[in-house]
Amino acid sequence: MKRVFSGVQPTGNIHIGNYLGAMKQFVDLQEEMDCFFCVVDLHSVTLPQDPKSIYSHTLDVASLYLAIGIDPKKSTIFVQSHVPAHAELGWLLQCNSYMGELNRMTQFKDKSKGSESVSVGLFTYPNLMAADILLYDTHIVPVGNDQKQHIELCRDIAIRFNNRFGETFVIPEPQIKKSGARIMALDDPSKKMSKSAENPLSRITLMDSPEQLKKAIMKATTDSEGQIRFDLENKAGVSNLLTIYSEFSGMSISELEQKYEGLGYGALKKDLVEVVTASLSSIQQRYHEIRNSDEIRNILKEGAEKAEQVANITLRRVKEKMGF
Ligand code: ADP
Ligand code: NA
Repeated sequence: MKRVFSGVQPTGNIHIGNYLGAMKQFVDLQEEMDCFFCVVDLHSVTLPQDPKSIYSHTLDVASLYLAIGIDPKKSTIFVQSHVPAHAELGWLLQCNSYMGELNRMTQFKDKSKGSESVSVGLFTYPNLMAADILLYDTHIVPVGNDQKQHIELCRDIAIRFNNRFGETFVIPEPQIKKSGARIMALDDPSKKMSKSAENPLSRITLMDSPEQLKKAIMKATTDSEGQIRFDLENKAGVSNLLTIYSEFSGMSISELEQKYEGLGYGALKKDLVEVVTASLSSIQQRYHEIRNSDEIRNILKEGAEKAEQVANITLRRVKEKMGF
């Protein structure tokens, strides 16, 4: 059976980009593959985090995994820092990659821009991510478009390691959706929707109330043409709204273009508010039941035990190859 690994950082503000680009795929994959879904808390400390909120955000993400439909009987749900093999393999992979290749990572350039004190961890983050993936002999990594370059690097490192030390790692493939892999900011459709943007109306989080998400959608940047059609180059804002609508409703983009022919942006936005509200309210209802129960901690404990068994076998193999 094919292995799947993916992760989400516990940094708060999990938004519909994270959901449509990555998490929604997890639910479908668990039916036919052996899936490991991780809350990657070690990644979140590459940027400063408040010690008072990190564990609570970890429980939030784990509860969201369950709320969107990930079934702990079918998938392994666990926390990265509960399995020490991640940090250990991360180090060994740092020693098997080059400054030059990490220097090319555009996410590092974006996240470090304008900041005077950038952690070394932010720079070597792709090595830890490679360790996350390679520890589980992963075949498929479902992610958003922004992670493509990191997966490419992970493959390069794994191939190089295999060539140097002998067959050790399974070479993973990214799984990036054709639609929804890059949801754009609502206030500025030239940027991707992100957890950290200052303007809260730039994103819709999975926890938004109907009033909040209505405000964000009604204010979303469009254009002055007035026609509802999909055109990424010239109509990025409207195209982004159509993509979100299509992903939440299951209607195709061309069905939506037909439905709104001759109608204005106000009509599209009003209906989109209803579509998103309906989807999020059922996720939120399940989320609140789960988040306040003890069940989630038990699931994470069992998940870590299962993950550790697999991870330790790979780590031992790596260390033997390297001569430890
Ligand atoms: P972020 O990139 O928002 O800080 P994570 O690093 O935790 O969050 O990413 C979790 C997943 O969400 C990754 O697979 C990432 O590619 C995906 N993702 C992040 N932002 C978007 C977006 N705007 N559109 C689609 N997918 C996204
Ligand atoms: Na990301």
